[in-house]
Amino acid sequence: MTDANAQAVTELVRGGLNRREARWLVEEFGSHGHALQVAAQRRRDGEPLQYVIGHWPFRSLDLEVDERVLIPRPETEELVAVAIRELARAQLSEPLIMDLGCGSGAIGLALLDELRERGVAATLVAVDESLDALALAQRNARKHELSRATFVHSSWFDDLDLALHDSIDLIVANPPYVGDEEFAGLDAVLRYEPRSAIVAPDSLGVTGFADLEIIIAQSITWLKPGGVLVCEHANTHRDAVLAAATAAGLRDVKDLEDLSGQPRIMVAHR
Ligand SMILES: C[S@@+](CC[C@H](N)C(=O)[O-])C[C@H]1O[C@@H](n2cnc3c(N)ncnc32)[C@H](O)[C@@H]1O
Repeated sequence: MTDANAQAVTELVRGGLNRREARWLVEEFGSHGHALQVAAQRRRDGEPLQYVIGHWPFRSLDLEVDERVLIPRPETEELVAVAIRELARAQLSEPLIMDLGCGSGAIGLALLDELRERGVAATLVAVDESLDALALAQRNARKHELSRATFVHSSWFDDLDLALHDSIDLIVANPPYVGDEEFAGLDAVLRYEPRSAIVAPDSLGVTGFADLEIIIAQSITWLKPGGVLVCEHANTHRDAVLAAATAAGLRDVKDLEDLSGQPRIMVAHR
């Protein structure tokens, strides 16, 4: 780090930022000037660092992120690893993947990129009901030259092309799964993220379960025989996701723990 950068970091720390974040900002915006001051003030006001910087690493990608989309989370990187393992087991050379609630595009685009590295020509259908999120996901696809992706505006499966029935090799989803009341008690940083990306209605007596319920119940119609659904869920949802997948007629249903040992990722096959 240059002397000028070190000095700028020291000044930001004096102004109340922590050192690691001050370094990020100086690396991004340079050691002086209006942009750095504006960014530092946004961070001091409580805006997440990821939005202030405007991009963030996720698996192999550097994704643009802003207030239109959820900031991709480390536990979701684990979901991508699980999905890659499932596809490797199936040994498909041209899998068709659907990312439900794609947000920034994190899961689906990371899969396309990592599969491309392995010589697998996957195709992605990325779905979101937020046009804003779809616009950003498309930017991220262009940024990483991932052209085998289409972006569809739909509430879950409602407006998808019926020709896709029985054709999807892998459905991945990280839907909203936080209940209304839980949301009120969560970290203030979450208030900068779109509420529609985080909060889901309760269902079947389970907090925040309504979107997962739809996805799990309807996936079987869209999966190819042998296809797989990989879903992130709240750590309180284990019993509900296992029961819903079994009731939907999916088989080999299992629920995996994330890096901190919490039940978070359901895997089920048609
Ligand atoms: C938890 S975020 C996940 C974003 C991204 N997949 C990730 O993992 O970072 C949930 C996403 O689902 C979308 N969503 C919410 N309700 C939806 C619905 N009914 N149909 C389609 N997408 C929906 C939100 O707009 C948001 O982008």
